This record gives sequence, structure tokens and C-alpha cells, in this order.
Amino acid sequence: MREFIETIADELRRMLGEGRDSVPLDDDSVRILRRMQADELAAERRSEISSGDEPEEVKFAGAEDLKIEAKKEYAPKQVRIVASRPQTRTIPDPKPFELPDGSPSEKWEALRGIVLSDPVCNAHVKPGKKVVFGTGNLSAKIFFCGEAPGADEETQGIPFVGRAGQLLTKIISAMGLKREEVYIGNIMNWRPEMSTSRGNRPPTSEEMAYCLPYLEAQIAIVRPQVVVALGKTAVNGLLGEDPNRKMGAIRGKWSKFGDSDLMITYHPSFLLQYGNNNTMKRLVWEDMMAVMERVGIPISQKQRNYFL
Ligand code: URA
Repeated sequence: MREFIETIADELRRMLGEGRDSVPLDDDSVRILRRMQADELAAERRSEISSGDEPEEVKFAGAEDLKIEAKKEYAPKQVRIVASRPQTRTIPDPKPFELPDGSPSEKWEALRGIVLSDPVCNAHVKPGKKVVFGTGNLSAKIFFCGEAPGADEETQGIPFVGRAGQLLTKIISAMGLKREEVYIGNIMNWRPEMSTSRGNRPPTSEEMAYCLPYLEAQIAIVRPQVVVALGKTAVNGLLGEDPNRKMGAIRGKWSKFGDSDLMITYHPSFLLQYGNNNTMKRLVWEDMMAVMERVGIPISQKQRNYFL
């Protein structure tokens, strides 16, 4: 039973990390989940001295960052996945650092050294895994900013090399560019910790605040004409959190990050959820054509028709 619960919790966390917050379930599955919750609760009650309060929410022990609600007020047969605050160690305030005078590449090397040896970043990385620093062209006109490393990225120490990364690479090449011609970084330099090895969760505000100066320093070195924020977490990291912000309303719009123009678009992992459906791909592609126009990359008629 425990293994079964962990498998479900892992999958739900993965989906949550991709931005989905509900799953369609048939009546039998809802019954089974409710039964599991009841069994878990009974086991907890047996092993704990009750405070006398009736718990309002039932959580799966061992999956404390998730609770599964199948209440009547939700749409029929939709079970909401609710992330409570993840259990993370305390994150200190970011510490000041200085970069040497010199060329962009000397500064970048120095910054990379600071980040890769940062004790707070390293304290969050599991043995055998890596802190992930940005990569790419230091004279790039376009700086893609993602959220945080996932499993593949923390293994290789390179941003965007997993499934979402492969899709980002395809987007870049559809723009007529190579990965080496742009810069790719993340809000976070470590993969947000989870109690299991699979799945991703969005970083907390403290985690983002700790890593943000490192991202800002990379942007200051590259001085891109355009920063592309990939997904809501990147927007929250760059512009500050705003619970009322809706990606559907802000994507495709220009704003500023420092001296750079900021384009907001969907994260490639969000696109992956849509499989072969071209609607979302086209929206992202329109955002990328706006970026191409802004930096002066010619757009062919064939490119203009992608995903139509
Ligand atoms: N998703 C991100 O936001 N960044 C990565 O590096 C990989 C996946």
C-alpha cells in the first residue's frame, strides 16, 4: 500500500510541477483514493495521541507536500491536487559577491565558480548530483530563462537537457538559431528538493530569492536585448510574485527586465502536455516570432505559417 501511495504521489507531483492541478478520475478511482485516505487516517490515529481536533484535510503520510481532495464542490470526477508548502531547510538571505574587472568571459567564469562552490546551493544537491549554472553565448541577443533544473539537468549540470530542454532546443532551431547562439539560464541553480527522486516542484520564494542575484549577474554579463521568461515561475522570479498573475493574460506581452526587453511565454514542459495539439505551440511560436522581429532575425513565410 505504501509503495502504491508513493507512486501516485510521485506522479501527482510531476503533474503539479508541469502546472496541472487536477486530474480526471472515474468513480471507482475516487472510491479507492478515499478508502486509502481513510485507511491512512485510521493508521495515523492509532499511532498518535489525538489533539482532539478533527483534521480538516487528510494528507498521505510520507507525501506531506501533497494532499488529495475529492470533494463535492469540485467539478465532477475532477480530483484537485493541492500543494502545501514544501518541507525545505531554511534558506539564508543571498550573500553579496563581487566579480573581477575584466572581459565578459572572465566575469562569467568567476561567477560560475562562485555559484558552483556556493555552500547553500551545494547543500541542496543530493550526492552525485550537480548545481546547475547557465550556459551559452555571452554575446547572445536572446537569453532564455527557465525555472529550475530537473532530474536530467542536475545529473548533467547543464540547463534544459531533459524533455523540456529538447523541446526548447527545437524552438531555438525553428527560430533559425543554434543553442550555442543564445544563452540559457534558470531562476534556480539547484533542483528543488523532494522527498522522492522523481517529479519536480516549483521553487519557494526564499529559494528563488537566494538564486536571483546569480541570474541577474548572468544577465548583466550577457546584456541580452531580449530575456524570454519561460513559464510562470520564471516570471515570478524575474518580476516578483503576484498571485493574481495569469499566464494566459501576460504571455506574448512585452515588459522590461533591467535594460533588456522581456517576453513572457509558456514553459516547454507546459507545451509537452498538449502533445500534438498545435494551439499552444502556435501561441509560443507567435511569441518567438515577436522576439525574432525585436532582435532583427528575418522570418520566412514558411516560418510564419508554423503550427497554423
Ligand atoms: N525546466 C526548467 O525550467 N529548467 C531546466 O533547466 C529544465 C527544465
